[in-house]
Amino acid sequence: MYKPNDMNAHWMPFTPNRRFKEHPKMMTSAKGMYYTNSEGSKVLDGIAGLWCCNAGHCHPKIVEAIQNQAAELDYVTAFNMGHPKIFELANQLTSLLPGDLDHVFFTGSGSESVDTALKMALGYHRVRGEATRTRLIGRERGYHGVGFGGISVGGMVNNRKMFNAGILQGTDHISHTHNLQHNAFSKNQPAWGAHLADDLEKMVALHDASTIAAVIVEPIAGSTGVLIPPAGYLERLRKICDKHGILLIFDEVITGFGRTGSAFAAEHYNVQPDIMTLAKGLTSGTVPMGAVAVRGHVYDAFMQGPESVIEFFHGYTYSGHPLAAAAALATQSVYRDENMFGQAAAMADFWQETLHGLKGHRHVIDIRTTGLIAGIELEVRAGAPTARALDVFDRCYADNVLIRTTGDTIALTPPLMINKEQITQIAETIAKHLALVD
Ligand SMILES: Cc1ncc(COP(=O)(O)O)c(C=O)c1O
Repeated sequence: MYKPNDMNAHWMPFTPNRRFKEHPKMMTSAKGMYYTNSEGSKVLDGIAGLWCCNAGHCHPKIVEAIQNQAAELDYVTAFNMGHPKIFELANQLTSLLPGDLDHVFFTGSGSESVDTALKMALGYHRVRGEATRTRLIGRERGYHGVGFGGISVGGMVNNRKMFNAGILQGTDHISHTHNLQHNAFSKNQPAWGAHLADDLEKMVALHDASTIAAVIVEPIAGSTGVLIPPAGYLERLRKICDKHGILLIFDEVITGFGRTGSAFAAEHYNVQPDIMTLAKGLTSGTVPMGAVAVRGHVYDAFMQGPESVIEFFHGYTYSGHPLAAAAALATQSVYRDENMFGQAAAMADFWQETLHGLKGHRHVIDIRTTGLIAGIELEVRAGAPTARALDVFDRCYADNVLIRTTGDTIALTPPLMINKEQITQIAETIAKHLALVD
């Protein structure tokens, strides 16, 4: 058993450190759908690590690719140098990505992808001679990672208030789409709310289109409680962006790579963004890697001027890291060879029906599902926001099921090859503990 005093040096991210160190939850190994914890229990992973291990844990083909790569080429700078796998990966991704998203820039994480995408949007307008387009529009209840760009367009108060001094000037937010009065217990896309996209027209009326570079949204918001876009909403955003020359950025860090049952949410909803951010499922969470895919017109706009000049002053030491490239290539072939996106699509109805079976259970005020995603919203305990959901989380963990909570919503996103028995286990475990918590 780990003792609190062993644990002081590590300042844990997004964690109440003192609470965790009093009651540690430690994983020591993983395989397929399960973790093994320090007590030796097998814990069913209901959240694919953190929306990332879409191919399950320690897949032998991915493990082998990483091991081989570590022994063959550990590192080469991505500045003025390359290695074959990263070019191969970019090519493979462009054939998987929808429409003409045909160029890929590599980063080390989702947050880096978001900041990269925002810089691309600013640079794009500038190189085209529209340098007044500097405003970046996000959405309330958006989460775009933790860089200064990401928190500026993000809409989670706790991620912003402490760092207010660093919030970018000239950002603004359209309204979120969450509305229990109209949409509680919707399956897939809620029917009500497409008109909320018109908020972007309000931004144009307020700031003028000539000042707006881009709007960034998660097609499905995850970290703020699983908010599925109302039918017609994303289409409407696309139309307004086209009308006013605004770039549309989809942050697909969590929705990419099969989560919806399609490769990307853009494909699932048939709405084409100009820029798409990726990470997580790209390597099935095995090695940190992010990417930003752009349409031809965005890339081409930068490819002007003298050929010896750097076109985009941006990049990371670990952009296109060989280990990550090898992991991503192996992950993509596992997705293909094992038809993992198809497996997710085939299981989506069972997932939806089973989790909607929690309707009517104590504390449950909404259930939102699509693909292999579910949000189960609980009524807030009076005077103690998040406490009820955290109690359910603790109890499910003690019962060997790993769930995640965000606010008072339970967010579930298992590896893509989850089976019916495991789905039932997750639902029954949650049901059992909903009945027992205050
Ligand atoms: C939509 C979205 N964008 C960006 C990020 C940030 O990714 P990372 O934690 O890899 O920086 C996340 C993380 O959950 C996310 O959900």
